[in-house]
Amino acid sequence: MNWKLAARAAKMNPSVLREILKVTERPGIISLAGGLPSPKTFPIQAFADACAEVLHNDGQAALQYAASEGYAPLRQAVADMLPWNVDPAQVLITTGSQQGLDLVAKVLIDPGSKVLVETPTYLGALQAFGPMEPNPMSVASDEDGVIVQDLVAKAKDARFVYLLPNFQNPTGRTMTEERRAAVSAAAAEAGLPIIEDNPYGELWFDEAPPLPLTARNPEGCIYLGSFSKVLAPGLRLGFLVAPKAIYPKLLQAKQAVDLHTPIFTQRMVSAVMKDGFLDRHVPTIRALYKCQRDAMIAALTREMAGLDVKFNAPKGGMFLWARLPEGIDTVKLLPKAVERNVAFVPGAPFYAGLGDPRTLRLSFVTASVEEIDTAIAALAVTLREELALLGEHQLAPAPV
Ligand SMILES: Cc1ncc(COP(=O)(O)O)c(C=O)c1O
Repeated sequence: MNWKLAARAAKMNPSVLREILKVTERPGIISLAGGLPSPKTFPIQAFADACAEVLHNDGQAALQYAASEGYAPLRQAVADMLPWNVDPAQVLITTGSQQGLDLVAKVLIDPGSKVLVETPTYLGALQAFGPMEPNPMSVASDEDGVIVQDLVAKAKDARFVYLLPNFQNPTGRTMTEERRAAVSAAAAEAGLPIIEDNPYGELWFDEAPPLPLTARNPEGCIYLGSFSKVLAPGLRLGFLVAPKAIYPKLLQAKQAVDLHTPIFTQRMVSAVMKDGFLDRHVPTIRALYKCQRDAMIAALTREMAGLDVKFNAPKGGMFLWARLPEGIDTVKLLPKAVERNVAFVPGAPFYAGLGDPRTLRLSFVTASVEEIDTAIAALAVTLREELALLGEHQLAPAPV
């Protein structure tokens, strides 16, 4: 058969990262590479009870087709959860926030459209935008998020800027209050829509992050949220909040994709969440992840002593970002680390433009404290060996 692929299929490359991470799939590896929440946090009994309750009380409706907008009590619960005045009519329940990114791409991107992203940014967003053939452009960023002057300089004719203000994936950084105020004002002034992705915002360790960008200018933003990190990712349940002018288009795009997000799951989560369950459950996730973050920082401080290794101390979320000494390429370092039974994610694929080969992302949530200690020690040995090799090459006589 002569299959002729659509031009956009060429843009659907296998995730570079997935290819790189294939080497990590060996048994015995301690993986700091995954983007998975800790399964210890999944409230299995609460789901078992809610599942029985939904089937018993509303079984027929729970197994029937349902509204594309989502289950009304869940949309109301989402509106109530958010820290600004949200009309539940503006809430669209999505099949994970990843679907929200897909819908945004379909509704807002034409081939060649300029789309602004952070440096670096969430790889899954670049993947979701890719088939719509945008021209993604990186906005210079520092520890506090995007730099406003560069955002303003690049804003003209951009369809939107995609931002992750809280405990960003991959860097773990958080946008400060001052930066949020400045970004929000600059985007409003430039007429630049903001897509705000916030799957990690509830996972703060010492204090809640500043108000979302959307709360400052709801008409200028689409907000994406998720139940993956506060309940469980296997639910595939997320939501978006959109201005009323754009909501119908996002809804129509969703209808074409999957008609609606599984209603059984929506009803079950709605049943789990009643009586303030999240207010009791989420603090237990915060406590666990904080302890693991502390363990990783202690291990890095101890094991990388004397090396030019920079890393941050995220105030929440699941990831820490590190930069290794001059001359190291983390893509090449990974197989050597895997030989020593530790895996991480190289940073370069997270950049829309040229990546920084010295960077890497470490997840501190799925490995135990003991495993974190072992893994960081193994990573330090790998790095010292690589640096020694680099030193030898530099000393070797130049080929004639
Ligand atoms: C920044 C970001 N956005 C969106 C997603 C997708 O999450 P969901 O499970 O809600 O589809 C992830 C998943 O890791 C993420 O890190």
